[in-house]
Amino acid sequence: MISQKLQDAYNQQINRELFSEYLYLSMAAYFNSAGLKGFENFFLVQVQEERAHAMKMYEFVNERGGRVYLKAIEAPKTDFKSALDVFEMAHDHEKLVTSLINALMDLAIKENDHAARIHLNWFVEEQVEEESSMETIVNKLKLINGEGHGLLMLDNELAQRVFTPPPAK
Ligand SMILES: [Fe+2]
Ligand SMILES: [Fe+2]
Repeated sequence: MISQKLQDAYNQQINRELFSEYLYLSMAAYFNSAGLKGFENFFLVQVQEERAHAMKMYEFVNERGGRVYLKAIEAPKTDFKSALDVFEMAHDHEKLVTSLINALMDLAIKENDHAARIHLNWFVEEQVEEESSMETIVNKLKLINGEGHGLLMLDNELAQRVFTPPPAK
């Protein structure tokens, strides 16, 4: 059975994953209004990923005889200056999430919860991908100065992104 401390920490992280979903949906809405449907698609896929992260934690807490308690989700930012502004913010957000996942892992180790440790391994690896995918786009946007033909080409590229659900276990 999951300890009270770890259950509380997992519940907190479920809230942060749902906030991530909400933040990325807000970013998708911004790109829709800016007429950049490829960028919108990138974030709509990211929305699905964040929901999948939350559900992976939801399932784990329940499987371990714990209880999921949901709290209010913080309102996301709604005003953005540019595509670069959005991706720099998304990159910073993923760095923050990495630190939260690391703290959760630290607690699992402290509590000697090996099942949680193995479960969290997936998230540790996923964060490497999350940070790198945001950073790659930040760099591309800087290369093209966030405008013109380059921006439309990147929009076309991001339109191709599709959601791949994470493995069940
Ligand atoms: Fe996430
Ligand atoms: Fe991912």
